[in-house]
Amino acid sequence: MKKEIIIAPSILSADFLNLEKEIKDVYEGGAKFLHFDVMDGHFVPNISFGAPILKCISKNKLLFNDVHLMIDNPQKYAIDFIKAGADLITFHYEAMHSNEEIIDFINFLKSNDVKAGLSIKPNTKVEQIKDFLPLIDLVLVMSVEPGFGGQKFNEIALDKIEELDIIRRQSGFKYLIEVDGGINKETGLLCKTKGVDVLVAGSYIYNKDNRKEAIDSLLGN
Ligand code: DX5
Ligand code: ZN
Repeated sequence: MKKEIIIAPSILSADFLNLEKEIKDVYEGGAKFLHFDVMDGHFVPNISFGAPILKCISKNKLLFNDVHLMIDNPQKYAIDFIKAGADLITFHYEAMHSNEEIIDFINFLKSNDVKAGLSIKPNTKVEQIKDFLPLIDLVLVMSVEPGFGGQKFNEIALDKIEELDIIRRQSGFKYLIEVDGGINKETGLLCKTKGVDVLVAGSYIYNKDNRKEAIDSLLGN
């Protein structure tokens, strides 16, 4: 049975002056997740947006709010995003200081009825997060150094996606595999062949006038 790929447009590349229309465009174009790239100018060398914007978006909620926290000390701010309508909160392994801290945070997210995601940067190995795989709902494999949209896809992500898919098949773990950074028709197809479930795409979708066409090309329609 063909797996249904989920498309998660990143609003980082959207026209913020017309955000409601930009979100409606991708919703009507077949997207299922809205990828919300939060950057603090500390964990990554860029600042994007925070919970107040998500709160506005949630007033007319069309998509699953997939919040990607590229921030230090994510535990401190998670509750703001939960209250603002996050459905899933993904934090970075590299922003944490111990396995206990990671497990506590995953449990905190789940106890607040949001899905828990864990993200790894290009130089972080799957082996480093294996203890958390039974607990998490999603693994976000970064195919660029986090911080900016429009970067070139790093093929280092492909082996990690395949490794995570094999572990999932062997263990029965239920996490989704998501990839983020430099996703277009070609790189998206490579990731799909390795077992990815969710494709994040910012510039590839929002730099085009016809968002449905871009989304269809990622779905392989
Ligand atoms: C990196 C961001 C970007 C964004 C997608 O910090 O997370 O990867 O979501 O950007 P594109 O699709 O334009 O590479
Ligand atoms: Zn992201």
